Amino acid sequence: MAEPSISIRSVRRDDLAGVMALERAGFPPVEQWSERSWLGELLGERRTTLLARTHVLAGVIALQTVGHVADLLRLVVAPQHRRRGIGAALVNAGLEAVRRAGATTVLLEVAFDNDPAIALYQQLGFEQLAAREDYYGSGRHALILKLYDLPDRPPVTAVTEREATL
Ligand SMILES: CC(C)(COP(=O)(O)OP(=O)(O)OC[C@H]1O[C@@H](n2cnc3c(N)ncnc32)[C@H](O)[C@@H]1OP(=O)(O)O)[C@@H](O)C(=O)NCCC(=O)NCCS
Repeated sequence: MAEPSISIRSVRRDDLAGVMALERAGFPPVEQWSERSWLGELLGERRTTLLARTHVLAGVIALQTVGHVADLLRLVVAPQHRRRGIGAALVNAGLEAVRRAGATTVLLEVAFDNDPAIALYQQLGFEQLAAREDYYGSGRHALILKLYDLPDRPPVTAVTEREATL
């Protein structure tokens, strides 16, 4: 089922509580980022952190761009809003933002058994670059995915400019 309307905008300092609610709903406790980690994404340099809203906060993505390489660091969609295109919309908006920041390739790490996320990233053109054994703990391997052709991708989603000084 498609969401009626998805809006995407840059995160603000006062979004931290909402982002933490998404984080807690979206990841098991051992995998959750702390408030301090998220604050780093909100305040850090070279960060692209975007929120998706429908009638409520529905998802968040965090990327970092250093030179021509961007890292997709975090992506989560609230469980009740999944399979409605929000994850794809956030990734596409994030890719467009880091492309404008100078990135030509994007890297990410994903658990080897995270089928929903791997399917989403593959659908958007990411390819497996490598695998890292036990990256998340014993028996919890990671795949390193890479998107190579960032400059060639058409712009897909307009993102409102950063709305406030953080
Ligand atoms: C991964 C995640 C962000 C996907 O968000 P989403 O909003 O449900 O994704 P979308 O609706 O945009 O899905 C886009 C495509 O991804 C794939 N996909 C998404 N969820 C899937 C699932 N559960 N099973 C199989 N494919 C899936 C499909 O190809 C889908 O396209 P389709 O619906 O037309 O078949 C979401 O499941 C999530 O927040 N998971 C927990 C956090 C997480 O694992 N983050 C990634 C860490 S690297």
